[in-house]
Amino acid sequence: MDTSKVLTPCSLLMLLALSSTATVEEESPEFWRSQARQTLQAALNRNTNTNVAKNIVLFLGDGMGITTYTAARILKGQMQNQSGEETVMTMDTFPYVGLAKTYSIDFQIPDSAATATAYLCGVKTNLNTIGVSAAARNGVCKSQKGNEVTSILKWAKDAGKAVGIVTTTRVQHATPATSYAHSASRKWYSDADLPASAKSANCTDIASQLLSNTDIDVIIGGGRKYMTPRGTRDPEYPLDYSSRGKRKDGRHLIQEWQSMKAGKVARYVWNKTDFDAVDHEKTDYLMALFEPGDLRFDVDRDPHMDPSIAETTEKAIRILSKNSKGFFLLVEGGRIDQAHHAGRGSMALHEAVALDHAVAKALELTNEKETLTVVTADHSHPFVINGYPFRGNSILGKSPLWAKDMLPFTTLMYGNGPGHKMVGGKRPDIRQVDTKTNGYVQLAAVPMESDTHGGEDVVILARGPMAHLLQGVHEQSYIPHAMAYAACVGADRTHCATNRAHAVAGATLMAAFSKAVPPLGSTLAMSLSVAMVAILN
Ligand SMILES: *[C@@H]1O[C@H](CO)[C@@H](O)[C@H](O)[C@H]1NC(C)=O
Ligand SMILES: *[C@@H]1O[C@H](CO)[C@@H](O)[C@H](O)[C@H]1NC(C)=O
Ligand SMILES: *[C@@H]1O[C@H](CO)[C@@H](O)[C@H](O)[C@H]1NC(C)=O
Ligand SMILES: [Zn+2]
Repeated sequence: MDTSKVLTPCSLLMLLALSSTATVEEESPEFWRSQARQTLQAALNRNTNTNVAKNIVLFLGDGMGITTYTAARILKGQMQNQSGEETVMTMDTFPYVGLAKTYSIDFQIPDSAATATAYLCGVKTNLNTIGVSAAARNGVCKSQKGNEVTSILKWAKDAGKAVGIVTTTRVQHATPATSYAHSASRKWYSDADLPASAKSANCTDIASQLLSNTDIDVIIGGGRKYMTPRGTRDPEYPLDYSSRGKRKDGRHLIQEWQSMKAGKVARYVWNKTDFDAVDHEKTDYLMALFEPGDLRFDVDRDPHMDPSIAETTEKAIRILSKNSKGFFLLVEGGRIDQAHHAGRGSMALHEAVALDHAVAKALELTNEKETLTVVTADHSHPFVINGYPFRGNSILGKSPLWAKDMLPFTTLMYGNGPGHKMVGGKRPDIRQVDTKTNGYVQLAAVPMESDTHGGEDVVILARGPMAHLLQGVHEQSYIPHAMAYAACVGADRTHCATNRAHAVAGATLMAAFSKAVPPLGSTLAMSLSVAMVAILN
């Protein structure tokens, strides 16, 4: 072994001192002071935006924990040949930041179904269940009845707004599904996935609920195979058996959807040529399903067949924003999570960078005065950024500091997952290994076929009307209530009497109520509310 390469923390610090990577400007105190002055001035100049949010765009990075967020920022900068650490992602520019506690009713570390029920329906629930309260039991159809809870997508639709879902997974996957479905199991994608007990208790599959519940204007993602009768050949992979239709009930949900929308311009597309040809001005409804299941990872995507998440976000916003009452759009970067489960840090980060491009596109197409944009995650992963890599070291690279076993290690590692490996009782020697490839699986402390989720809080970034409501440390279930308040959708609209009623009148109303009346929701409170609204008008 070449021990001349071994660095102890002490020699590392000496080396750092000798070979500083700082640019000349960073060596000047004035550089940092002037940057701080600008940041301070921006904070001082910021006026609280108390407009009513006409539009809401909710970006959800599935599995995008804080370490993923930081590492993706560095990768994004390094992809532009910057050092990376100082890079400003589009999400970084959001003025308001909060944290969400992600635990589910039954688990300290949650899944994407329970968390989606929290940040979309405003109610914490049990693992694996979507759009139902915790009174429903995981996988028990009977327990679902009467325990359904609705999502902010429905509240927005009920208020006359246009609504859409954009995802990189199948549209029946936990995150998008929770915006429109109620299911004691997130795995009931098609009727073929329903156990006999669930069928006999009249539970329905998630794909069929895409048609039967809220009328969704724009549906973009993957998941064709859950929509067509068993054995239906896939248009893109006609010879691949696993891509064929799954439904046992013989229903063709894509055709049904098209006939349901008769009289409107409803377009179904499955490839980029047709997608690009969709004229947003002339289209009322769009269903775009680009793969039989989940979409490909962004770095594996064929740009001639499938659009990027920035492109799908753009199309959705262009169609939805024709509604004069505004819109609600959920955009999910759904495969950050799947890459992490596979222990592929690089892939996860590239997915997060692609999501940031979609955020940038949305900001370009909307106005901060009237659009509340929120970026958050459902849960984290046991993903760490560790060692003492030099400034500008590839985030996908190795620490110059070797461990006690005289072997180097990567900056990115996992607490558990498929990357656990021992060779003759030692960690594998990665000196000759290129750890920057998309397929590289980082070391995991504990062997697991698929990594678990992580349990620390996730970030909430907010911008636009009433974005300040999302500051602080909150239960994840608070998020849709705050967004609904901002947009005057959902059950609580007592503050929505006038256009700019939020901060001032809203507060007055609430204060008046708490003094004068018994619990809200009583008849007296209701009639008072009507009276107050009349006064404000
Ligand atoms: C980064 O540097 C490489 C190699 O010098 C170059 O090929 C590439 O175009 C650069 N990329 C950017 C975004 O500047
Ligand atoms: C299921 O639906 C059928 C037809 O509507 C009805 O006869 C039956 O009682 C229902 N079963 C349950 C368990 O609700
Ligand atoms: C895209 O889909 C349309 C409609 O099915 C089809 O006619 C066309 O050939 C497809 N394009 C490609 C490149 O596969
Ligand atoms: Zn997951």
